[in-house]
Amino acid sequence: MKVIKVRNQEEGAEVAFDLFKEALKNGAKVLGLATGSTPVKFYEKITQSDLDLSELVSINLDEYVGLDGSSDQSYRHFMQSQLFDAKPLKETFVPDGKATDLKGYIKKYDDIIAEHPIDWQILGIGQNGHIGFNEPGTSFEAKTHVVDLAPSTIEANARFFEKKDDVPRQAISMGIASIMQSKELILMAFGEKKAQAIKGMIEGEVTENLPASVLQRHPHVTVILDEAAASLLNA
Ligand code: GLP
Repeated sequence: MKVIKVRNQEEGAEVAFDLFKEALKNGAKVLGLATGSTPVKFYEKITQSDLDLSELVSINLDEYVGLDGSSDQSYRHFMQSQLFDAKPLKETFVPDGKATDLKGYIKKYDDIIAEHPIDWQILGIGQNGHIGFNEPGTSFEAKTHVVDLAPSTIEANARFFEKKDDVPRQAISMGIASIMQSKELILMAFGEKKAQAIKGMIEGEVTENLPASVLQRHPHVTVILDEAAASLLNA
């Protein structure tokens, strides 16, 4: 893992944006995208640029079960407002939180990923070390699946909802096996709440109890951290 330390989220977004442009130059066509507060400034860099994304395809990591794309808290809505409305892509895939046949749907999402192998994946990290919505204990072999959200994740994500009870209890998430198949991964983390998970991810053992630790096994990962997120690291 290559670790790049930055002063703040703004600088982190710039580093990620430079890596993104490099990937496009090298022919990346399929983007793996993430939601959450972490990549917001990175998406802002893209929307403020003159980059043309119209030949690209994107595949998002996850979506809450029960929310449809028009709901303000859905990840589809997040992506539309943060990126897609301003910078249209050829095709954008975000799991359908309203899918009625969830079992059939997760298989379909795996087929989408198989048809469009991800070249460049952006990731955030949960305070408990989750990536996408792959909570601690998820098998490294997992493909797209329905997740029962950990109480700590519900707590952490309540800030995006009017009240905690409104946070969906389940989500659809791309699996760790699919994330690991991406050619290149960029993980960003900002703030002291991420420090413990980041320490485990980089310096701890590779364990399903800390899903992001699996990234130690990937050959092409760049981790972008501010001082607070990096504060518990030995080096
Ligand atoms: C959410 C998302 C993740 C995201 C993480 C961190 O639950 N499912 O994809 O990386 O939590 O969120 P934030 O960037 O807001 O800290």
